[in-house]
Amino acid sequence: MTLFDELEFSNLQLDQHGSLAVLTINRPKALNALNSDTLTEIGQVVDLIAENADISALIVTGAGEKAFVAGADISELSELNNVYSGRELSLSGQEVMQSLNNLPLPTIACIQGFALGGGLELALACDIRIASPRARMGLPEASLGVIPGFGGTQRLPRLIGAGRALDMLITGRQVDAEEALQMGLVNYVSDEPLSKAREVAEQMIRNAPISLALIKEAVRRGAHISVEEGMEIEADLFGMAVATSDFAEGTRAFLDKRRPEFKGE
Ligand code: CAA
Repeated sequence: MTLFDELEFSNLQLDQHGSLAVLTINRPKALNALNSDTLTEIGQVVDLIAENADISALIVTGAGEKAFVAGADISELSELNNVYSGRELSLSGQEVMQSLNNLPLPTIACIQGFALGGGLELALACDIRIASPRARMGLPEASLGVIPGFGGTQRLPRLIGAGRALDMLITGRQVDAEEALQMGLVNYVSDEPLSKAREVAEQMIRNAPISLALIKEAVRRGAHISVEEGMEIEADLFGMAVATSDFAEGTRAFLDKRRPEFKGE
């Protein structure tokens, strides 16, 4: 029996392995494209995980080997025909991606196959990305007469630099796993991306959970301000970290030459 056994989703699967949650986008007939129901369900899962102290890391992946997520659902997009409905859809998608990005625990996108448009934007909202050698990533929105609307124009340049991001955005070309690794778009390439994601997640969650939340907060808040302002934030959060009992436990365990037992307190 896991925390998620009672829950039913139409377009997702949510599994629990110990304290690790695995969210699988599951619309294989549409290459796991994000329609509005799927986005709503992702938002619900993120809220659930945010409130659940038993979960310490989240892996996001797609069902099947062909696609992680092939973008926003184009049949739904094609119904949009005015400024207001377009803005509304973008804001609601951004809100879901932002809530994923703001989770205080580590998040890993496990990319097999295509991660295009809104699919790549979903992966960009995670902390790190692990790809299979056959993964292909891109933001092809301009080829549809639209632009990325779930954070891609903002997150991609911040991750890989404006020049590389503009190349991907303006050509709309797909990059393979090797190129994505070279440009820092993905962190690891593995023949077994899900096993690799679990291995990395296990490594992350051995660390003190409050440290992980504070590190994420420091990086997020520091991204768009001066180094001096960022240092202030870092000092404040460092102060919060040393006031935790996990800090006392971590340092004591080091001195006692044993593994620490963190409690998230
Ligand atoms: N939305 C809805 N359906 C999609 C889809 C999408 N994004 N991507 C694929 N599908 C559907 C196809 O329509 C097809 O359905 P049918 O079998 O019913 O015809 C099925 O999935 C399989 O797809 P293909 O036959 O096209 O498979 P392929 O192997 O020939 O090509 C692909 C694969 C290159 C990924 C191609 O499907 C493709 O280009 N998909 C669209 C990618 C894209 O443009 N994504 C960006 C969407 S816009 C966006 O995301 C905006 C935003 O930022 C908010």
